[in-house]
Amino acid sequence: MIQQILFSAEIGKKDVAKLEATTGIQIREVGKILYDVQDYHDGVYRHSLNVGYLTAQLAIRLGLSKAEVYIMCIGALFHDIGKTKIPHSILDKPDKLGNDEWELIKEHPRRGFELISQYDWAYQLEPMILLHHERLDGKGYYSVAPQEIPLSARMVSVADAFDAMNSNRPYQRKQNTNNCWEQMERCSGTQFDPNLLRLFRRTIDDIYYKRLNRGQYASKSVQPQYG
Ligand SMILES: [Fe+2]
Ligand SMILES: [Fe+2]
Repeated sequence: MIQQILFSAEIGKKDVAKLEATTGIQIREVGKILYDVQDYHDGVYRHSLNVGYLTAQLAIRLGLSKAEVYIMCIGALFHDIGKTKIPHSILDKPDKLGNDEWELIKEHPRRGFELISQYDWAYQLEPMILLHHERLDGKGYYSVAPQEIPLSARMVSVADAFDAMNSNRPYQRKQNTNNCWEQMERCSGTQFDPNLLRLFRRTIDDIYYKRLNRGQYASKSVQPQYG
C-alpha cells in the first residue's frame, strides 16, 4: 500500500531502496507502525493513507526532490498517529466534545511525536506530526508563530483539512467538493498558506482529471477518494 502511494508520486522500487539507506526510514517498519494504527482505528488509518497520498502529490507538484517527497509522504502517513493514544469514546463521539475531551484531542500531535521519537529517524518527520494543526494566524493548537511553521507542516495541514471535510466523520457528514473549497478559501491566509492552497486545488483537479481520463477506478483502494 505504501509503495503504491510512493509509486504514484514517481518513487519506484529502486528509489525506495536508496531512500531507505539515506533516510534510515524502512518501508517495512513504516508498514508495521501503520498496521498498529489500523488495528486501533480504521478511520484514522484510512485518513492517514489519504493524507500521505495527497501530501506526496502536492510535494511532486512543488518540484521537491525524491528524498523530500519520501520524507513528507511518510510524515503525513504518521501525522495523526497520536490519535492511537486518544480513547475511542472521544474519537468516535458523534456529539460536540466537552472541554476536557477537546484538550485531550489537542494533545494528539505531541503524543504522536512522542510515540514516534523512539525511532532514530523520527526527527525528519517532526514538523508534519507536531505542527500539522498550526495556523498562519498563530491560533493553532500550540499557538506557533507562522515563521516557525515549516513548509512540510503547512502542506500536511492543507491535505489534512481537505480529507477531513471529504470524509464521513462521527460528528459530520462528508461535504461536497465545492463547499469544501469555499470553506478552505475562507481560511486562506489565516489558517492555510495561500500559495500552497492554490497549488493544492490544482493538484486535486489534476488527480480528478487523470482519474476521469483513465476511466477506471482500479487504484481506489490506494487512493480511496482522489486517485
Ligand atoms: Fe491531526
Ligand atoms: Fe488528520
